[in-house]
Amino acid sequence: MERNSCEIDMTNFYIEKVAAFGLGRDLRACVITHGCQMNARDSETLAGMLEAMGYEITKDEMAADLIIFNTCCVRENAENKLYGNLGKLKARKAGRKNMKLALCGCMMQQDAVVDKIMASYAYVDIIFGTHNIARFPQLLHSHMESGGMIVDIWQDAKEIVEDLPAVREFPFKASVNIMYGCDNFCTFCIVPYVRGRERSREVADVIAEIEALAADGVTEVMLLGQNVNSYGHGLACGTSFAQLLHKVAGVKGVRRIRFTSSHPKDVSDDVIAAMRDLDKVCKHLHLPFQAGSTRVLKAMSRGYTKEDYIELTDKLKAAVPGIAITTDIMVGFPGETEEDFLDTLDVVRRVRFAGAFTFLYSKRQGTAAAGMENQVPEEVAKERFNRLLAEVNEITRQVAQEKRGMVLEVVAEGVGKNGILNGRSDDNSLVHFVGDEELVGQVVNVKITEARTFYLNGELEEI
Ligand code: SAM
Ligand code: SF4
Ligand code: F3S
Repeated sequence: MERNSCEIDMTNFYIEKVAAFGLGRDLRACVITHGCQMNARDSETLAGMLEAMGYEITKDEMAADLIIFNTCCVRENAENKLYGNLGKLKARKAGRKNMKLALCGCMMQQDAVVDKIMASYAYVDIIFGTHNIARFPQLLHSHMESGGMIVDIWQDAKEIVEDLPAVREFPFKASVNIMYGCDNFCTFCIVPYVRGRERSREVADVIAEIEALAADGVTEVMLLGQNVNSYGHGLACGTSFAQLLHKVAGVKGVRRIRFTSSHPKDVSDDVIAAMRDLDKVCKHLHLPFQAGSTRVLKAMSRGYTKEDYIELTDKLKAAVPGIAITTDIMVGFPGETEEDFLDTLDVVRRVRFAGAFTFLYSKRQGTAAAGMENQVPEEVAKERFNRLLAEVNEITRQVAQEKRGMVLEVVAEGVGKNGILNGRSDDNSLVHFVGDEELVGQVVNVKITEARTFYLNGELEEI
């Protein structure tokens, strides 16, 4: 994969346009993100480019002169969210001269979506995809020059563009892409079609980014990829994900390393050993299993059996005592029977997840599963979903209860509306505690006094 660097110098463009709009203030931009952490990271880059062009970044979409929707299409409800928002924006845009609207992200990689927007939402100004976000400044410039709708979608990534700016949400933690795309083609999933083929960033680029973040005060990094355990395939140096973890752990200033997502078929003994041996690697693994039935897993093309998954989680628990395992689970995949579903419940009970995202299967046009027979009726899938959720929540609650009385090392992340601090423990538990706002970004010890299903309450320990 070709590597490219990008320099954004749109200063002249910005000064010209502000003068032309005659607002007498900075232009404001709002980036609205749907979907997963890959999209959230792309949005940070978009905000960084906008800031480099002179825009003020705002979270208040009502105040924005430019709104970008970074979209998701993993399930149908994600797509509906965009159309709902677009409908509402029509009147606001008509009443506000010079307001701009751009759409990007995974949804835009589908021809049918772009056709629909061009036909029914003509007030959208710019449409681009997942492979060319680095071109956004040029697209905005072209739109400002021509005034017409600009559509630029690439079918695949031509290069990895490095050194793009970013606006991060937290000063002390950051997400870092280590790879893009996915080659797994799980039969239900649209991601490989809209994010392209898997490609890993060069080790030196990843480490340089993390060193720069650490120099800027970041102590916690989240390494991102659709399947981080296959990092390094296609790189000349052949560095594996486990080796990358060792290199990241060597970066001075980094205290905590997290990563997501891990595909069960690719979790190697080396990665388990790195989690065991490297203190900086957090004791949390997000390990989506999707379904418990081996027959369904085969139809999903997941590449592991129910027994493989349970064996893997047993191995992880033995190697990394106290590890929190979280997961993604889907119900209603085509052909799923009651017996198959009971296998899913069985995995939930045996692994005892610290948390799980549960999804109703959503048919995605263009995927192999969309053409499968025996689509499960909606009422049947919903009934199973409710039973699954009850089981998952009860187990999550029990796992949380086990933390009562423990003293956890917590990084304080923010202050809630009630003035209570919140933070994350090494095993990714959300912890609430009373403390001074100045502790945000710092590591503190918190004694857990109460456990709820989705968070823990505790008291600050004197150091
Ligand atoms: N790459 C990750 C992996 O394989 O573990 C998953 C990334 S995907 C964006 C996040 C989750 O969305 C998946 O784990 C799956 O449970 C869910 N998902 C993907 N396609 C779906 C579909 N068609 N219907 C319902 N849920 C889906
Ligand atoms: Fe989708 Fe499977 Fe790739 Fe995950 S590994 S992004 S579920 S195709
Ligand atoms: Fe959605 Fe794209 Fe992520 S489809 S889940 S935003 S990779």
